Amino acid sequence: MTASEGEVRRRADRLRAEIRRHDHLYHVENRPEISDGAYDRLFRELQAIEEEFPHLLTPDSPTQRVGADPLSQLPVVRHVVAMLSLDSSESEEDLRRFDERVRKAMDGPVEYLVEPKLDGSSLELVYVDGVLDRAVTRGNGVEGEGVTENARTIPSVPLRLRLAEELATLGPSDGDSSESADAFLIPSLLAVRGEVLMHLSSFEELNRTRVEAGLEPYANPRNAAAGALRQLDSRITRTRPLEFFAFDILDIRWAASGTEEGEASAAEEAKGFDTDEQAVEALRRWGLRLPDRTRKVADIDEAIAYHAEFARDRDGLDYEIDGVVLKLNALAPRGALGSTSHHPRWAFAFKFAPRQEVTRLERITVQVGRTGKLTPLALLRPVEVGGVTVSRASLHNREELERKDVRAGDLVRIQRAGDVIPQVVERVEEPGRVRGEPFRMPEECPRCGAAVVEEGPFVVCSNRLGCPAQLERGIEHFVSRGGLDIEGLGSETVALLVGEGLVCEPADLFDVTPDDLLKLEGFAETRSRKLAAAIQRARKTELARFIYGLGIPEVGATVARVLAAEFRDLTILRTTTAERLEEVEGIGPIMSEKITAFFFDEARAASLDAILSKGFELIPPPERESRALEGKSFVFTGRLDSITRSEAKKRVESLGGRVVSSVSSATGYLVRGERPGSKARKAEELEVPVLDEQAFLRLLEE
Ligand code: IVH
Repeated sequence: MTASEGEVRRRADRLRAEIRRHDHLYHVENRPEISDGAYDRLFRELQAIEEEFPHLLTPDSPTQRVGADPLSQLPVVRHVVAMLSLDSSESEEDLRRFDERVRKAMDGPVEYLVEPKLDGSSLELVYVDGVLDRAVTRGNGVEGEGVTENARTIPSVPLRLRLAEELATLGPSDGDSSESADAFLIPSLLAVRGEVLMHLSSFEELNRTRVEAGLEPYANPRNAAAGALRQLDSRITRTRPLEFFAFDILDIRWAASGTEEGEASAAEEAKGFDTDEQAVEALRRWGLRLPDRTRKVADIDEAIAYHAEFARDRDGLDYEIDGVVLKLNALAPRGALGSTSHHPRWAFAFKFAPRQEVTRLERITVQVGRTGKLTPLALLRPVEVGGVTVSRASLHNREELERKDVRAGDLVRIQRAGDVIPQVVERVEEPGRVRGEPFRMPEECPRCGAAVVEEGPFVVCSNRLGCPAQLERGIEHFVSRGGLDIEGLGSETVALLVGEGLVCEPADLFDVTPDDLLKLEGFAETRSRKLAAAIQRARKTELARFIYGLGIPEVGATVARVLAAEFRDLTILRTTTAERLEEVEGIGPIMSEKITAFFFDEARAASLDAILSKGFELIPPPERESRALEGKSFVFTGRLDSITRSEAKKRVESLGGRVVSSVSSATGYLVRGERPGSKARKAEELEVPVLDEQAFLRLLEE
């Protein structure tokens, strides 16, 4: 490298440090020091250098938050240690019982760390030698979805942990001279747990722009955050205003002498901290953002006061919280307290009571669901409940309706808990007012006129797929995002197709031609062609999506995945017995009954046969994944003969590797195909191992 290139390298390093510092000040500490313009200048200078000298580009450069090529599916990734849930309750009694259990085990007074329970989407970040290696959603707690590229676009997710030297340049307001440099050592592995969320103001802004663009607004900030985090295309995630807050060290390993590097140290005492306070302080110093108002309390009464304080302030906050979390501050006894399979015994979420409001019930109507259930629905005078306008609420079923005895014209108390449909809690007495007639559930299906039957507390339309409402809901579910994911086929179009008689059973959908669609309201040439093509394409799909789409009672996306992985073939699944199903982990007797009842039902079986006769290709999930390529990155250049780029990428990812677009000294392998580009030369310069197509395929095989 020439002397001038040495200078350039130093300049790039300097710029990166500066930009990281400003990123941190802005996104984590909320106290920017320079103007946006000045920041942009630094950023552009760095970008220009990296463009001119691509080999100076590092994967953890602040310019690398731009989003990568879209994935075909999110890889399943195992957590470093299981991400458990939290024990929780709204009742002070339950909380006190928790405290008593802890005190008994501790044999003395206990301190808790208390903080808000953020209502977002849970995420694990794993740093290897201080560099962000992967990000994994909670999933089932053991395995989640790898969303690394998406997490990289979140400004408050550090691409690498901050070091002592960087802190030293942060200026007097941040540097506390009494801090020992030891605290800034970088662990060889750090798994951090935190929450991804969207601030309410950003959420409203996002919804405004969506509505203007003719798109559906998101139901709430949590769904918006979770959806953005699970995008296949990180360039979309990048446009969403996400934030990350860290609150727990899942695992930490030090490559110190004496202990073997990489040795698992799930035991709390091995984390190198005595208290949770120290642990979160370390997170803060490494550059992670912590929840606001975290506090240490000396006893349970203080924690209850903290909860009350937060409940009062709740509506004034710019983010959603659904309670406060208490964690035993001392780390050593955590191991002794242990955990259940669901939650640790050293933490507790003291939840807020759901938000309630009183409004007038204008009318009761009945909705027919996918399984034929008739649900009474309260149409309300619109009212704002905790920032959301509510105009309808579920009355659940006949029994509930009778028990609550609400009638048109009554004043009712409603509540919203999380994102579940608002509920009618009770009728509010109005002495002296003359009430309307009690509501009676219809004896015929309001949609198809067929007789209804009573099933326990429910009233069900007996007409099944003969009922247009059930057919519509069933098709909507079949083609929904978790199912066949047919773009452009929303509930309105489904209703038109059914209403016009083009679709009388789900299989008919696959005979719909562009000409058929042209006859529908709102369909011109392009739209018709696109939708018809999307429907045809959907016949090749993942087995798990297809199973989910069938709408088998009790079978959601997770169970569908489990079934697809276990049986790998629809014919085998269809003919399996309840006993065999029960052998599958996560499938109990009720679920296995429902599954076999569904497949052995004559009408369902005929409908399924009709669908399959349209020619489906159902792809089973990749075989049990191995992590053989863990931590290895691949760059492709040139044309591959026997495998497509996207297939190659999928294979690498299924083995735990990553595919990146540019070569750096950190690149694991360069795969060189026919007529390679400049990347090949660069790889040679940087002494990155180069594989030809055959060698690459052999590596995958091994
Ligand atoms: S502590 C097992 N602290 O709540 C203990 N969790 O209902 C580790 N959550 O999925 C979690 N805010 O993602 C903790 N301040 C906070 C939290 C928090 C939100 C989430 C967490 C978990 C869920 C459990």
